[in-house]
Amino acid sequence: MLGLFDSGLGGLTVLRRVRDRLPRADLIFFADQRHLPYGDRELGDLEALLRDNLAWFDGQGVEAVVMACNTSCAIGQTRGWPASHAMVFDLIEAAAIAVERAGYARVGIVATAATASSGAYGRAIRSRSPGTRVAEVGAPELVPLVESGQTEGAQARDAVNRARAALPGDLDAVVFGCTHYPLLEAHFTRAFGPEVELLDPAVEQAARVERFAEERGFDEGSGRTVYVTSGDAGHFRAQLLGLGVPGLELGDVKHMEEE
Ligand code: DGL
Repeated sequence: MLGLFDSGLGGLTVLRRVRDRLPRADLIFFADQRHLPYGDRELGDLEALLRDNLAWFDGQGVEAVVMACNTSCAIGQTRGWPASHAMVFDLIEAAAIAVERAGYARVGIVATAATASSGAYGRAIRSRSPGTRVAEVGAPELVPLVESGQTEGAQARDAVNRARAALPGDLDAVVFGCTHYPLLEAHFTRAFGPEVELLDPAVEQAARVERFAEERGFDEGSGRTVYVTSGDAGHFRAQLLGLGVPGLELGDVKHMEEE
């Protein structure tokens, strides 16, 4: 079984990429909605949440944890990864691999405040692509807007425009440095225009996980996804239905204490 986690709905943008590549794998998706938004929290707090989440997955017996939260990866990178029995796939590392492969010279990162201020993206990209210029900006308004379903209004549009204005004008690509942001892709496309490529690290993340699952035989299961939240399970289910998650059944959405 493979586990994925995020603070909330953003992780679904990673889950959908993994599911596309591994239609028969058994997946467990954990949304730590009780502690949302991660991006505004103190580093020590985030470190404890990362440790607790990895320990919870150990308790579930997962073979791999597919990180679906950049903020937690930024903490793992800057403060050290907590011990885990599972193989842990780092999303920021996946982004750095994708940037290296594309050969971008100028990259912008839009991320949560915690991720942007950690500088983890810049370090990960420059260690693989030393000549690449990286500019990072935090966009703390966006996660609460996505979680409350306000993806289409002027508030989200204006916040994305502000992030664009804070980055250099001559970018080759902009990275979705938070997994909630692909749900705002239309605003990003309009704000950055056709010259700037939008890079979703989840694409590379899913490709790496597919290779691992095939090698270890975790690709052949029932194809079920169990959704677990630390918040309100009824609310989470309504959010999933609102987003149109395919094949969702009532028993698939649980509170973490039911697991
Ligand atoms: N979606 C998460 C990320 O990729 C964190 C969002 C949040 O809770 O601030 O960083």
